[in-house]
Amino acid sequence: MIIIDGPVKLGGEIKVQGAKNSTLPLLAAAVICKGETVLHNCPALSDVETAVRILEHLGYQCTREGSSLIVNNEMKCCEIPPDLMKGMRSSIVFLGALVSRCGEANLHFPGGCEIGLRPIDIHISSLKKLGVEIEESGGCLRCSAPNGIRGSYVSLPFPSVGATENLMLAAVCSKGTTVISNAAREPEISDLALYLNRCGGRVYGAGESCVIIDGVEELHGCEHTIMPDRIVTATYMAAAAVTGGDVVIRGVDNSHILPMMSPFEESGCCIRQYGDVINILAPERLNPVKHIRTMPYPGFPTDAQPIVMPMAALGKGTSILVENIFENRYKYAEELNHMGANIRIEGKVAIVEGVEKLVGAPVTSWDLRGGAALVIAGLAAEGETRISGEEYIYRGYEDLEQNFAMLGAKIRTAEGK
Ligand code: EPZ
Repeated sequence: MIIIDGPVKLGGEIKVQGAKNSTLPLLAAAVICKGETVLHNCPALSDVETAVRILEHLGYQCTREGSSLIVNNEMKCCEIPPDLMKGMRSSIVFLGALVSRCGEANLHFPGGCEIGLRPIDIHISSLKKLGVEIEESGGCLRCSAPNGIRGSYVSLPFPSVGATENLMLAAVCSKGTTVISNAAREPEISDLALYLNRCGGRVYGAGESCVIIDGVEELHGCEHTIMPDRIVTATYMAAAAVTGGDVVIRGVDNSHILPMMSPFEESGCCIRQYGDVINILAPERLNPVKHIRTMPYPGFPTDAQPIVMPMAALGKGTSILVENIFENRYKYAEELNHMGANIRIEGKVAIVEGVEKLVGAPVTSWDLRGGAALVIAGLAAEGETRISGEEYIYRGYEDLEQNFAMLGAKIRTAEGK
């Protein structure tokens, strides 16, 4: 478990890790390239390990050299067993990559954090439009493209991040042109397009709601630096905010942070952005974050909703949060209430009456970002916070304890219940 002795005003400098949600589709994309892929700024996370295990099962050789991951292309099979699929949600983007590379794929329904129903109907229906035949039975997905993958017009009913990525991977080496309308616009989509284009792909418009992919014969390998993790950046910012801290975060893409600025500004934090640096200086007591609604990018990200909740919990007044993306993303709020927060959940709405202080308590993390919320709260709370279920947090946060310790936090890990 993670044990925090709070409160401590955080101060100092830190460098942000590469983005988990960019790394995972990039590792799936490496399946398509007929050459070596070198990913720099690749975070060491349990989810990345799961993706590496999938690649190794498929026959690829993965070698880590510092923060770079090298993937050598020697494909042996095109099936992923259920235990590897269940390890994480984004294992599903291997579908598009495998069908593109082998013309077939056998895999299973993916696992992942339990933050909602998380169906894959959009992935399946849109891949079918490109000529991919998918048979579902007993949790298995048998996929093939007997006549090859053909470019097509696909209009997504919702701008799903994973479905957009799957389509881009399936279409990049297809015959003809694919147009994805209502595509997800998240920065991770642009990072994937950048990588594919470096490998010889022709993907246009990524980051906009219409993505056009001109199919090419094949992709070669390339070197690519993974974009900074915007949600981890927000996590360090929120930790600085609730502790009245003064923190400098380096290696940031400041344009990705803009959709998350409102709670920091509303709560009275002073933010300075220059180059790839962001500095947050927090007041002694936060104002309420007021009103936050999660939306697809460039709206306020659902992944940052739990992250800013401890700020709302400690704000001087009432805040309202509305979760529009996932149905079950407030489980952590009950744990924050054990620490003295006053959060009431009514469906997709959280009504938060700010309290003067939080107190340390034994709490449980049930998912990645909910777990991060408990860490943030623990840093501000009086006394000892013991967080179990820490394995969820390590899915997305590299060197969590070391990084917070560098900022002055009293944080450690221990065995036990
Ligand atoms: C990605 O998940 C991220 N994961 C999530 O981050 C993030 O919360 C989410 O995008 C939204 O930004 C990765 O990139 C690995 P979606 P993804 O498909 O691709 C519904 C984190 O904490 N939907 O955009 O799974 C779905 O149920 C994680 O780092 C369907 O109904 O998200 C959800 O309500 C958690 N059918 C909404 O769309 C489908 O076929 C958004 O899902 C697909 C999605």
